[in-house]
Amino acid sequence: MNRRVDVKKNGEHCYDIVIGQGFDRIKEELEALDIKGIKLCIVTDSNVGPIYAAQLKEILEQTGNSVYVFTIPAGEANKNLDVVETVYTYLIEQHFERRDMIVALGGGVVGDLAGFTAATYLRGIDFIQVPTSLLAQVDSSIGGKTGVDFSKYKNMVGAFHMPRLVYINIDTLSTLSTRLFNSGFGEIIKHGLIKNREYFDYLDTNYEHIKALEPEYITEVVYESCLIKADVVDRDPTEKGERALLNFGHTLGHAVEKLMNFSLYHGECVGLGMICASYISNERGYITDEEYTAIRNMLKKYGFPTRVEGLDIFSILEVSKSDKKMENGVVKFILLKQLGEAVIDKTVTYDEMTQALKEIL
Ligand SMILES: NC(=O)c1ccc[n+]([C@@H]2O[C@H](COP(=O)([O-])OP(=O)(O)OC[C@H]3O[C@@H](n4cnc5c(N)ncnc54)[C@H](O)[C@@H]3O)[C@@H](O)[C@H]2O)c1
Ligand SMILES: [Zn+2]
Repeated sequence: MNRRVDVKKNGEHCYDIVIGQGFDRIKEELEALDIKGIKLCIVTDSNVGPIYAAQLKEILEQTGNSVYVFTIPAGEANKNLDVVETVYTYLIEQHFERRDMIVALGGGVVGDLAGFTAATYLRGIDFIQVPTSLLAQVDSSIGGKTGVDFSKYKNMVGAFHMPRLVYINIDTLSTLSTRLFNSGFGEIIKHGLIKNREYFDYLDTNYEHIKALEPEYITEVVYESCLIKADVVDRDPTEKGERALLNFGHTLGHAVEKLMNFSLYHGECVGLGMICASYISNERGYITDEEYTAIRNMLKKYGFPTRVEGLDIFSILEVSKSDKKMENGVVKFILLKQLGEAVIDKTVTYDEMTQALKEIL
């Protein structure tokens, strides 16, 4: 079963996200976009490349394009300008021109870096996303944000650059580590909580099918999450308003991520942040005690830590004060108005956050 999301920008068709099994169908997609007779450079990393690059290359070659592969070392530490330069050099050596394209094959690191390279090489060439981690499939490959880290600052240099196509082969998830697979559900559960209660319930009811990677269930989950993210991004492509709702769980989550020196995965920290934000939503009487408990239980079910050791409230608050989500000295917090509906709130006090943090410490 295949699914397709029509991603819009300012209400107009921008590109499609195609979700299914195997790489084969990418041929038809390229043909439909009239992508032929050009050079395609698969940019991948040292973990994903050895598993999938040859397979994808062979299929892409059947579309009448010349296909090259460039492999970068895996890991966030390599999402930087030095590595971007190595890709530029390769593209120049292979005589890539304006009409040629990059195909980003990998997780969010590859997507962000290859996308940024495409956004800047020759003032911008087209690119295609082939995301292989759950996080990349439901989150980072959608929305057109590309970029790299600079010095110790995350995602400090970047560009908005929309792909021509996002092609998701859910079979690639089978080689992802269990912990990485689990942590992808941080954003997925978030999507249900902020936008769609039925989706949250679906994740609850069909937990076993989803965790067993049953294709029809995984396809449905990836599809539903892509729909939600694409819809939010369409209404706010440059992050001036509604897109902030996607930061649910991220205000305190990011602070925990930083303080734990990235030993906890992003999704795991978002899970902890969502517990805090849901606690505040419950204290304010927006969601019921039962709903708050359901959120905690859901995270537990999907293998998330619900507590973190070795951190203190003061440091977490200090770090969140210096976060990007601050606006004129006020923390832009995302709360649940009800299960399935989020709001931006600028009145959350440090006292409320302190109480909430006690839930995870
Ligand atoms: N652009 C955006 O809007 C956006 C949004 C969220 C996150 N991000 C970025 O995404 C990155 C995190 O993404 P991630 O979690 O995918 O990290 P990642 O790309 O580092 O992938 C995690 C690990 O899994 C490996 N991997 C990926 N797919 C695999 C597969 N199918 N089989 C085996 N191994 C596989 C990778 O090689 C890597 O070692 C961060 O840099 C973050 O800033 C960007
Ligand atoms: Zn996130």
